Amino acid sequence: MLLFTLTAIALTAATLGIVVRRYPEEIHSTTRPRTLADSITIDQMSTHLDQLQRIANSGGGTRAISTAGFNNTLDYITTYLTQNTNLLLKKQYFDASTSRLASNPILISHMNNQQINYTYETNFTLMTNSGSANFGTGVRAAVIPDIGCTEDNWQAASGTVALVKRGCNFVDMANLAAKSGVVGLMIYNDGTDCDRYALITGAVPPNTSYPALFLSYPVGLALANAAQNTSINTSVIINVAYVSAISVGNICADTLTGDPTKTIVVGSHSDGVPAGSGINDNGRRESLFDHV
Ligand SMILES: *[C@@H]1O[C@H](CO)[C@@H](O)[C@H](O)[C@H]1NC(C)=O
Ligand SMILES: *[C@@H]1O[C@H](CO)[C@@H](O)[C@H](O)[C@H]1NC(C)=O
Ligand SMILES: *[C@@H]1O[C@H](CO)[C@@H](O)[C@H](O)[C@H]1NC(C)=O
Ligand SMILES: *[C@@H]1O[C@H](CO)[C@@H](O)[C@H](O)[C@H]1NC(C)=O
Ligand SMILES: *[C@@H]1O[C@H](CO)[C@@H](O)[C@H](O)[C@H]1NC(C)=O
Ligand SMILES: *[C@@H]1O[C@H](CO)[C@@H](O)[C@H](O)[C@H]1NC(C)=O
Repeated sequence: MLLFTLTAIALTAATLGIVVRRYPEEIHSTTRPRTLADSITIDQMSTHLDQLQRIANSGGGTRAISTAGFNNTLDYITTYLTQNTNLLLKKQYFDASTSRLASNPILISHMNNQQINYTYETNFTLMTNSGSANFGTGVRAAVIPDIGCTEDNWQAASGTVALVKRGCNFVDMANLAAKSGVVGLMIYNDGTDCDRYALITGAVPPNTSYPALFLSYPVGLALANAAQNTSINTSVIINVAYVSAISVGNICADTLTGDPTKTIVVGSHSDGVPAGSGINDNGRRESLFDHV
């Protein structure tokens, strides 16, 4: 019932034009929310849901952004509002950056002639906000003394991929790493307890320019031992690629009348998830009233 209600409310973004046109006086009345809710019928909603489903079906089963299904959704809303309302419509595209990975990150080490490929999400993971990277050749791995919490720990880190044991606040450490001029950062679990061997999720500051990885304790320890051994040249190759910024379409529908100093903005997202047609997704995350 709750899900259903949310769907009903969010879909109103598409049908709002009708509501505004039919009930302009209620916009200013104290009974507005009830009137708005009452004006939405199951039939009306189902009509739109069927149309969105058709759009998804004819576009590979999805209406996610940067798919034909998404564009067709915008066209459907635009056409509908043009034919049924006098709202002033504007369609605009803007570039949205994305934290979606284009492929699994790669970590390869060379200890003299021995090459090891590590498994993403098993031996290492990517820290949230990590920068992208595409190392053509190996970069020397350097062990940071202690737990990398003070500036003097980072004196010799410039131009290396710094390998540091977990212990210091990740953000503080990442800032010190950036200041020292590292090419990459690898934090490894410290193995001080059974629950401190595996991978954990952690974040470096937004817009971190270098790749930041978290390594399991055994992987980090083996690399640290090699990197500290003067008879072993230890280098790593890191590749991290994100999906590039994507163009996202937005529709603005303004009423022709009203007080421009007292504007109510009503929003809803028109895309769906990549995994399906997104018929109930439109109601799930953002409801009509989130933005009022
Ligand atoms: C969606 O429309 C935009 C703007 O017209 C266009 O640049 C983009 O290529 C279209 N995307 C698809 C998948 O059709
Ligand atoms: C290691 O990774 C490199 C680069 O992706 C690849 O060419 C190579 O085949 C991999 N080796 C193994 C043993 O998986
Ligand atoms: C990667 O993790 C697996 C599973 O824990 C382990 O068997 C393997 O030895 C690890 N690889 C390296 C290079 O440590
Ligand atoms: C990250 O960089 C983008 C693009 O340069 C900028 O718009 C944004 O404000 C930055 N975010 C933070 C948290 O610094
Ligand atoms: C350093 O590496 C060499 C060559 O693999 C090895 O023989 C030596 O035992 C290592 N030294 C230490 C202190 O681990
Ligand atoms: C380590 O690399 C340096 C510089 O490339 C080279 O001179 C040296 O021979 C290498 N050492 C080993 C043990 O491979």
